[in-house]
Amino acid sequence: MNPAKEIQLLKDEIDHHNYLYYALDKPEISDQEFDSLIQKLKKLEEEFPGWITPDSPTQRVGGKATSSFLPHKHSKAMLSLDNVYTEEEFLAWWNRVIKALGSDNEMEVTIEPKIDGTSLSLIYQDGLLISAATRGDGMVGEDVTMNAKTIRAIPLRLKSLNKLSGTFECRGEVYIHRSDFDWINRQAQKAGEKMFVNARNAASGSLRQKDPQITAQRKLRFCVHSHGAMDLPESHADFLETCKRYLLPVTYSTLLCQTPDQVMELYSKLAAARKTLPYEIDGIVIKINSYKKQALLGNTAKSPRWAIAFKFKAFQAETMLLGVEYSVGRTGTITPVAKVRPVECGGVTISSISLHNFDEIERLGIGLGDKILIERAGDVIPKVVRVLTPAEQRTLIPNPKFCPSCGEKIPLPSEEEVALRCPNFNCQAQLEQSILHFAGRDGMDIEGMGPAIVSQILSKKLIKGIAGLYSLKKEELLQCDLFAAKKAEKLIDHIQKSKIRPLSKLLTALGIRHVGERVAQILAKHYPSLDRLAQTQKEELTKIPEVGPIIAESIHQYFLQEKTLELIRDLKVHGVNMLEPQGSLIASPFSNKSIVITGELAHFTRSEAEKLIGTLGGRCTGTVSAKTDYLVVGNAPGSKFEKAKKLGVAILTESEFIQLSNPISQ
Ligand code: IVH
Repeated sequence: MNPAKEIQLLKDEIDHHNYLYYALDKPEISDQEFDSLIQKLKKLEEEFPGWITPDSPTQRVGGKATSSFLPHKHSKAMLSLDNVYTEEEFLAWWNRVIKALGSDNEMEVTIEPKIDGTSLSLIYQDGLLISAATRGDGMVGEDVTMNAKTIRAIPLRLKSLNKLSGTFECRGEVYIHRSDFDWINRQAQKAGEKMFVNARNAASGSLRQKDPQITAQRKLRFCVHSHGAMDLPESHADFLETCKRYLLPVTYSTLLCQTPDQVMELYSKLAAARKTLPYEIDGIVIKINSYKKQALLGNTAKSPRWAIAFKFKAFQAETMLLGVEYSVGRTGTITPVAKVRPVECGGVTISSISLHNFDEIERLGIGLGDKILIERAGDVIPKVVRVLTPAEQRTLIPNPKFCPSCGEKIPLPSEEEVALRCPNFNCQAQLEQSILHFAGRDGMDIEGMGPAIVSQILSKKLIKGIAGLYSLKKEELLQCDLFAAKKAEKLIDHIQKSKIRPLSKLLTALGIRHVGERVAQILAKHYPSLDRLAQTQKEELTKIPEVGPIIAESIHQYFLQEKTLELIRDLKVHGVNMLEPQGSLIASPFSNKSIVITGELAHFTRSEAEKLIGTLGGRCTGTVSAKTDYLVVGNAPGSKFEKAKKLGVAILTESEFIQLSNPISQ
């Protein structure tokens, strides 16, 4: 057989088994047999590199780690869904829709499970996957193409006998099986990193990993549930059928109903099946099947009128309160955490439940040894619903008098506060939490700085405050048993790299009360230097529409503290950036990047493409080296293609290049 044909047959076979495994959950061959198919293909491609195509299964994990994701402007807003929780609410929605559609009382809806994951939009151009983006704020998401390519349920090319042309944009849910979620958390625990609170966060966190190699290990799944801007068939069911034909996974059952009774029957069936599924679903999604009728009903600002999520009731279980532990937050707030006899609740074992604050303990009237009813609703953290032990048999838990971390006496809370606080600014637990917040994703984004690592760094007394992070040495880290040489070097590298984060990130990282990610961005836009912000009067700050008197007062108080001034001074000494870059918020993906073009482009002459890259702030060079950021590949590419692949340079097809160069699509 000629190699081209052999390669194509192998690719088809691999795609087929991927589909059976990841879309249908019905594998027909063992993992070893699958791996040997991949190895066979790899060998053939090594022998005949000219036949490697961007849709080859060997190209799934090729991308380099990135420091940030590029913005992606959605062709059509990615909306959310309205929820109903009871049969009455569902019937009210049904009747509203019938009324809005006029005299025609006939209605057909599709029923799908509501999968608890994170949404992703995929764009296929002429059948080839060219872009994948998260939802973001619904209008602009993050470009996670390299990561999405590692998800084996996502076809790199749509399966079709005919040559496909045009744009096909489908949207769906990235999710994770419970067993894979447990595995991720076990790995994180071993490495001393932060664990995910639920499967949805694990899916979303894994999809937004900076290193596609890590995303690839996370066994993410995908399932289509909606579409972007494109030519459409008549109905949603037809659209999903098309997806199925293309080997795109769709929800495991999409069913049609004409009456509310039929919907209720399916609701009960799925609610009963819920526990037996390997992944979390938290309700059903009901959608008007006809696209014409969907258009008639239209959308509100946030959600379509033609669809509704009918949520399941939370899982409940009975257990016993074994004890209460106290955790100290970065501002000294003490949170009581109930330790309960481990109990299975909707497929998850629960042994620990936050009680939020001391008012909650009082409200529940909870005591040690009490029988309690707990509940867990999909993405929400578990909670104590009520105490089942009769009131007269309970012994209430007294409030703690001393900080569980530093032993400082806890003062009585003020009138307007329900929280108990440790008043000691030098409390170790507060510092630990402040560092975790500082290094967190929304803050300085220091990869690898998880709770176990921070706790070891502090217990070895390697640093006294946040700024100390920047003078940590490899030899010092090696004193902690969580580190081997390479890991220590990596962490130091990540710490040093965080110095160049923009002011908005630093502001979030500082953890000023009431200043979260969004407010920090707004502040940095108005005051692009930290010194200027620190000197601004309260009254001036409240002139910004999004900044009210509470936020302004909190910022004012923050910059009055001696501790703050000391921290800012120390951060400056270490060279931490205190400015917000000016100009357009949407950076060109090619700015300061080195780009090489190979092969013939269909839409540009070579010099036009070079000019475009120049306009977007990139540099075009003639040879591929380890410093090359992107190789743009046209028709009949030369040896540069091979070299780029060997060096792991990110490879862009012409459509990907067009997509990235077009500011409207970012
Ligand atoms: S349809 C325009 N169908 O739920 C409507 N969403 O709460 C687009 N989700 O953002 C969504 N399963 O991420 C749809 N079968 C399903 C779904 C589903 C899960 C997610 C989706 C959406 C969120 C809204």
